[in-house]
Amino acid sequence: MPFLELSLTVRVGQQPAAEEALDDLGALAITLRDADAETADEQAIFEPGVGELPLWPTITLNALFDAQTDRRGLAAALGELLPWLEPEQLSFADVADQDWERVWMDQFVPMPFGRRLWIYPWNIEPPAAAEQVVVRLDPGLAFGSGTHPTTALCLEWLDGLDLAGRTVTDFGCGSGILAIAALKLGATAAIGVDNDPQALIASADNAGRNGVAGRLTLFLPQDFSCAAAAGNAAADVFVANILAGPLGELAPTFAAAAKPGAPFAISGILDGQQDELLARYGEWFDQLRVDRREDWVRISGRRLR
Ligand SMILES: C[S@@+](CC[C@H](N)C(=O)[O-])C[C@H]1O[C@@H](n2cnc3c(N)ncnc32)[C@H](O)[C@@H]1O
Repeated sequence: MPFLELSLTVRVGQQPAAEEALDDLGALAITLRDADAETADEQAIFEPGVGELPLWPTITLNALFDAQTDRRGLAAALGELLPWLEPEQLSFADVADQDWERVWMDQFVPMPFGRRLWIYPWNIEPPAAAEQVVVRLDPGLAFGSGTHPTTALCLEWLDGLDLAGRTVTDFGCGSGILAIAALKLGATAAIGVDNDPQALIASADNAGRNGVAGRLTLFLPQDFSCAAAAGNAAADVFVANILAGPLGELAPTFAAAAKPGAPFAISGILDGQQDELLARYGEWFDQLRVDRREDWVRISGRRLR
């Protein structure tokens, strides 16, 4: 079914009323994007906290309506609901129908990491190649498909370790991609921790898809801390892909969660943010090294004995 798309550009303070008005007028779907995204003023929002919806200073709302909807009638009704609306804030376009799930999936293709590891979209059947270690993934609403440089840095690092018989903790597990990759690479058990309940659901689903659900234990951070305090959570290998701020704050927690001598890696660090983290992590970890991919760096090393 084709659609009529109404685009409405507003200031951040006008967004809630605009979204409510579009909803009241029967919009079938509403998406929000940065109105300045194609200019030099683009504002990046890296990782909102759970339940937060940070927005840009100027927002374009794209609302889909049935293709038969009368444009003039819709514009007039919107003008009544939003008295501040100026005609130049509004535009219309016809949108051809597409298989929306496929559009997303078409951009997510099988990707190799390191020597053996491959990430496959869950709907593509991997070839039977004994030398490949394949993780089949549907990130759902969670972060972690392998397309982001921070994830790629961690996947390559895991691929380079001998994980046979090891336990691995993945802090900030998102889709579960790192924990599941570790299990497929030979780890006996993994722990995934995330403060977003949606991420824990996605991780459990993906673990099931890869036949490793029985070896992955998932925790919210508070429950992980309890397990760590009881001495049940120190891992042979530790990986965390979050952001520099929380990585700095969580360093003592990570130190307690890694066994003496454990290889560890942290990612989600923008190039330029590493020096402070190197100084902080030096208290508990040594053999520190920095690796880069695009604008991002990974710090890896070993837990002091
Ligand atoms: C950048 S994503 C990484 C996902 C996946 N591990 C990967 O490498 O692609 C970071 C994840 O960490 C979670 N996260 C952020 N801050 C956290 C915190 N303080 N405690 C636990 N999880 C956190 C987010 O919800 C998100 O799922």
